[in-house]
Amino acid sequence: MYWIESEMEQLGTWEARVEMMDENIDALEILSHDSDKHWGIIKKWMIKANIDIPEIAPHGLPRHVFDFEGLSKEEMFKNIMKYEMLAMNVYKDIKNANSDVIKELFPSEKDAFEFLTEIEQLIKEEQKHADICKKQIGGFAKIKY
Ligand SMILES: [Fe+2]
Repeated sequence: MYWIESEMEQLGTWEARVEMMDENIDALEILSHDSDKHWGIIKKWMIKANIDIPEIAPHGLPRHVFDFEGLSKEEMFKNIMKYEMLAMNVYKDIKNANSDVIKELFPSEKDAFEFLTEIEQLIKEEQKHADICKKQIGGFAKIKY
């Protein structure tokens, strides 16, 4: 997730490369801005849990997650939406993880509580992001949650 949020942060760089309307650009900016924030949150907790910050993309993830070259804006947002849903589900899994695992990562009760509170916030925001993408896709595609 650290890696995906960092890739999402760069969504804004596609603004000039895909033909978009103001509304699409606003949507991309929200996704990019929030992902930057999420990235920072994940980084903070990884450091607290003594987990190494990855410097290269993990196995199975392409070096660049997003490549919208030649895609319409609808296809682009459809693509982004997949990752927003993925992010939401991963954060949900973390929230529902065995409390012993959380305790092991964050022995301080205060840390564990704050961690889970922030994960809950991420879930809410990823839901919002998926909705933003859905709106941009419009009638173009039926997306099942
Ligand atoms: Fe997101």
